[in-house]
Amino acid sequence: MSPKVMTLDDLKLIKGAHAKELEHIKYIKEFRNKTIVVKYGGSALEVQKVISYLIEDLIFLKQLHINVVLLHGGSRQLNEVLKSKKIKHESIDGIRVTTKEILDHAVAEFTKVNKSIVDEINRKGQDEIKGIGINGNEVPVTISEYLDKAKYQYVGHIVDVNVEFINALDSQYIPVLSSLSQTKDHQALNINADTNAAEIAKKLNAYKLIIVTDKDGILGKDGKLLSSVNESQIKEMLEEGTISEGMVPKVLACLSAIEGNVKKVHIINGTKQDALVNELFTDSGIGTEIVKQSKLSKIKYA
Ligand code: ARG
Repeated sequence: MSPKVMTLDDLKLIKGAHAKELEHIKYIKEFRNKTIVVKYGGSALEVQKVISYLIEDLIFLKQLHINVVLLHGGSRQLNEVLKSKKIKHESIDGIRVTTKEILDHAVAEFTKVNKSIVDEINRKGQDEIKGIGINGNEVPVTISEYLDKAKYQYVGHIVDVNVEFINALDSQYIPVLSSLSQTKDHQALNINADTNAAEIAKKLNAYKLIIVTDKDGILGKDGKLLSSVNESQIKEMLEEGTISEGMVPKVLACLSAIEGNVKKVHIINGTKQDALVNELFTDSGIGTEIVKQSKLSKIKYA
């Protein structure tokens, strides 16, 4: 059999593959031993398939010696329970008014979500990587105060973060944190999961905060995905209303993380398989990255 002659296209393919490999290796090296906080939430996301994608990516990151901390919400599960029990609930300024009864259900539901994520990590991690659940109502990872008891009832805002619970863990563990907190007198409070993630990322001096949603990222005025934006551009977009509704609290949490020295923040669409890995290990990413002031002068479209 005569040997196959390489065409120019074959060579380009090899060269291209090599360039891609180098691109991946560059980031693998950069992120090694760094801490990445991943916030996972959004009602459409809390489905088994998406959790499965994300956990596969997180285990992969751990295998590359990147520290990951996972934070989650549980609003879809909570809403379902409230609906089935016919418990009325309302939101003021986008904040869920949390009565004692709703808080009890939130504790139960968020704990269940936490356990199912931890179980899935343990199943997929095959003894090499393990998940460990940290429920903020039981373990004082964050300390909070009532946001406005008369208005929102059992809703808190974080006043202190004790990351030693996370730092004390062996490197084979992925800490999985729920979005509950407690007062210094150990009263459980419901907290916003994005803010929680930003506060913990800041206190951990995280290299990155990644918000996993069911949206592709931040969209510009023309509705196109923005690949890269900086702090002042984000502020401008908030002022002119280009960023609106559900994206606002997320983006505010991102800004607070960036201002608090988290190097970079990303918003990505978790319903796409390998989303996290594609964002982290390619130059162009797949979502929106938010960087500090000096990095960019012009908005970069995807
Ligand atoms: N992989 C690089 C990082 O994680 C670049 C990501 C770029 N992402 C983007 N949406 N433009 O820092």
